[in-house]
Amino acid sequence: MKDNRPFPPLKNDNLLRAARGEVVDRVPVWVMRQAGRYLPEFQELRKQHDFFTVCRTPELACEVTMQPLRRFDLDASIIFSDILVIPQALGLTVEMHAGVGPVLPQPICTPEDLKRLTPDGALSRLTYVGDAITMMRHKLDGRVPLIGFTGAPWTLMGYMIEGGGSKTMSKAKAWLTNYPEDTKLFLNLLTDVIVDYLEMQVTAGAQMLQVFESSAEHLSKEEFLLWSAPYLRRIRDDLVDRLTKKVIPAVPLIIFAKGAGHSLKEQSELGYDVIGLDWTVDPVEARAVVGPNITLQGNLDPQSMYCEPNELRSLATEMVHKFGKSRYIANLGHGITPQTPITSMEVLVEAVHNAL
Ligand code: CP3
Repeated sequence: MKDNRPFPPLKNDNLLRAARGEVVDRVPVWVMRQAGRYLPEFQELRKQHDFFTVCRTPELACEVTMQPLRRFDLDASIIFSDILVIPQALGLTVEMHAGVGPVLPQPICTPEDLKRLTPDGALSRLTYVGDAITMMRHKLDGRVPLIGFTGAPWTLMGYMIEGGGSKTMSKAKAWLTNYPEDTKLFLNLLTDVIVDYLEMQVTAGAQMLQVFESSAEHLSKEEFLLWSAPYLRRIRDDLVDRLTKKVIPAVPLIIFAKGAGHSLKEQSELGYDVIGLDWTVDPVEARAVVGPNITLQGNLDPQSMYCEPNELRSLATEMVHKFGKSRYIANLGHGITPQTPITSMEVLVEAVHNAL
């Protein structure tokens, strides 16, 4: 049964205000992969349930989404799921192997294999994500905003061709030169599903959306502008069109293109409200390139979380001073890693809130 109750009013909206360029009470902070293996309670729950069972069961997904909020004074929650639920909805098997990561046993090898994908009805196979989002909005009781997310087309195509993570993305990159036209078909097919999926997430209650182009790091600037940026632009444009036509209020959009610090100017022209930065980018230089009308997010090196508390505190404080209080959302420059001490999260959140 669809839950149509109105959502509780938002109490801490600093994240949304930062995204819109409004004044904030404090610099908002959240952490990519804030629900995950560094938390013993997550490990405990994972002993009992398979990874994708957690994603597919709204009660479990909400429980895991809530775990970091019980411990830390975070300014956002992010719905527990994975970018690879889209390849699953398109008919590919995706398994999560302990110590390895995602495995797709029957990857897309040649353009002929694209016929195996089932874009028709893909959205209907993702309704569990919308159900989890709606349930989570009620469970949050307005404490902080809820972020929805998706993988970007190039990143998803990479996993679908490589059959999992890859150090080089060499098979996927070979498509760019060997099958440019089929690559465009593939990326457009993914873009269409992504737009449907994000619209569904907003309808379900997502208050902000992040698009993960995590594999941008494998592309040169020229390749990024050819094979990533145009699809990122279409995701934004088509989503805004859809929401406008249905008179659904738009939500802020974040683009996180890891390793694409070479194209910050171009990213700032894609229509996104927020640009996520990895730790290789200097905050002051990034601001100079993107100008005053974009919010920046990031970008502490996840490795800094292994420093002594005093050292971590000064790194986090220095980061916030470089970005400043306006149009800034504090985060790591990529996902938090499994061995991170819990105390580092406490130190990070406190340091961000007390920096300015
Ligand atoms: O708290 C949150 O941020 C929400 C949950 C979330 C997960 N995956 C849960 C997860 C989010 C936002 C993602 C996104 C995701 N998934 C990305 C983009 C972000 C990034 O890190 O670049 C990518 C590339 C994936 C694909 C994926 N899923 C990989 C490569 C792996 C294995 C590596 C790893 O960190 O384990 C996963 C597994 C995964 N996704 C875990 C979690 C908590 C750990 C798996 C487990 O519990 O066994």
